[in-house]
Amino acid sequence: MGRFAHKDLLGVAQLSVEEINLILDTADSLKEISERDVKKVPTLRGKSIINFFYEPSTRTRTSFEVAAKRLSADTLSLSASSSSMVKGETLIDTARNLQAMNPDLIVLRHSSSGAPHLLARVMEAGVINAGDGINEHPTQALLDIFTIREKKGRIEGLHIAIIGDIAHSRVARSNIIGLTKMGARVTVSGPPTMMPLDVEKMGVRVEYDPRKAVEGKDVVMLLRIQLERQSKLLFPTVREYANFFGINGEVIKRAKEDVIVMHPGPMNRGVEIESEVADGPHSVILDQVANGVAVRMAILYLLIGGAKSDKVD
Ligand code: CP
Repeated sequence: MGRFAHKDLLGVAQLSVEEINLILDTADSLKEISERDVKKVPTLRGKSIINFFYEPSTRTRTSFEVAAKRLSADTLSLSASSSSMVKGETLIDTARNLQAMNPDLIVLRHSSSGAPHLLARVMEAGVINAGDGINEHPTQALLDIFTIREKKGRIEGLHIAIIGDIAHSRVARSNIIGLTKMGARVTVSGPPTMMPLDVEKMGVRVEYDPRKAVEGKDVVMLLRIQLERQSKLLFPTVREYANFFGINGEVIKRAKEDVIVMHPGPMNRGVEIESEVADGPHSVILDQVANGVAVRMAILYLLIGGAKSDKVD
């Protein structure tokens, strides 16, 4: 296994298949730390990590914080509303001030696509993209790919449907990039108004009927409607969306018998997913959350902790 030769993690697009496998294998070896009585190792002692979230988050923010603490790094959280950006300070000036405190990593979530890339250019510290606009959410895709590999034993050759608001979802984009790179066959489905132009150029098949999209799939990944990124409603009513694109137990029966159902959260029950599916036997939604800690531990470790061959105890 080679060393992870990146200062930043800005997108799945920047990662090779070997690097994705290195992250997944490292997460595999770190996962058991969360199952110990004492859930802490000294690997990142003395390192400091700033979580800087300009948009709301439950899973990503918490799991980065838990991951850092399990590796003994010092963490600090800053939100847009509690930072001096509300007084007009720019992102770059904010970044330079944070850099002056000499952190090792900044984890940034921002509503603008490309904000972490801008930050990475002016910071000596590493930058992790925790979701930027409609661009990428690389750690979510990596934990999704980890979960699929854990449940199915492989990625290559699997048939995967991603259903929902594809155009505005950074999770969809990162997963499409990552899953196709790893050799999966991806079908996307959703209303035509929520489908990116030329999405086929990303190596996916488009099937507008979600029932057909689910047919014979190994994995069904559901996404919420990203209302915060739509300037106007792109479907007549939420009830109509739920009637046509909401996935219930009957629709899931069209997939393979051992299908796994995924959702990055937050879920809108009764809209894109019915509770019988979210809480049903095929759901791995909470496994995704648990795996998010392991995958984020792996990313922190690879960026600022040394090579995988280093001993972790
Ligand atoms: N999946 C995800 O990014 O969830 P949060 O918005 O709660 O972090």
